[in-house]
Amino acid sequence: MKAAPIRDRNDIRQYDDLVDAWWRPEAAFAALHWLAAARGRLVPEPLVDGEVLLDLGCGGGLMAPYASVYRHVGVDLSASALSVADRHGVLVVRGDVAQLPVADGAATVVVAGELLEHVRDLPAVVAEVCRVLRPGGTVVIDTINATRVARLALVGIAERLPGGPPPRIHDPELFVCPDRLRTLFAEHDVDLRVWGIRPAARDYARFLADRRHPVRMVPTRSVTLVYQGVGRKEDG
Ligand SMILES: C[S@@+](CC[C@H](N)C(=O)[O-])C[C@H]1O[C@@H](n2cnc3c(N)ncnc32)[C@H](O)[C@@H]1O
Repeated sequence: MKAAPIRDRNDIRQYDDLVDAWWRPEAAFAALHWLAAARGRLVPEPLVDGEVLLDLGCGGGLMAPYASVYRHVGVDLSASALSVADRHGVLVVRGDVAQLPVADGAATVVVAGELLEHVRDLPAVVAEVCRVLRPGGTVVIDTINATRVARLALVGIAERLPGGPPPRIHDPELFVCPDRLRTLFAEHDVDLRVWGIRPAARDYARFLADRRHPVRMVPTRSVTLVYQGVGRKEDG
């Protein structure tokens, strides 16, 4: 098999190199499967048929099992990832999350899973999330904190561990401070509540043994590494 080229950190072409890994829970995107399940637990039930869940940076569509009660629309820059998401029932749109090709207030739920730590213009992306979210709608995020510990643990160490992020997928300069994120959302009338999450130790030990066991992400008081957030856009 041809070795994947060495790319710059956060180079979007890495998702082309890894296109066969999206739906293999033992492979490079293992942790994204665990995070998608944790994210899915935060998605509210729709009130009526046909409501839209907009999945920003949807990648290969790993949210599909948790979004089937919605019209699951995924936006991503990576054409190869979108073709995988399409095969899993996601209605795909190629685009940049900093300039969404989506009407104001079109989505009941906006999900941004493991996306915000990849974008160069965070204020623009948060503004777009809030623009396309309808009043009363819910935003669900997870991302990586901009701490020295996170840089060491998730780049220096975890990139070498099974279930850790693929090497060079992250640029630690783009990691996201939760206070800054909450402030940006508040500017658009979304009160974001955040908390830390980590893999359950026993599950991770079993995953190490068989590379199959699903790993439940559990809440933790510390937001030092990976954190989740949920916010609701004020009504009218
Ligand atoms: C770490 S993956 C997360 C994928 C998916 N959300 C998940 O959790 O399985 C990040 C995704 O964001 C996409 N992405 C990065 N920057 C983007 C941008 N500016 N606009 C749209 N998609 C972007 C990448 O192509 C990639 O599919």
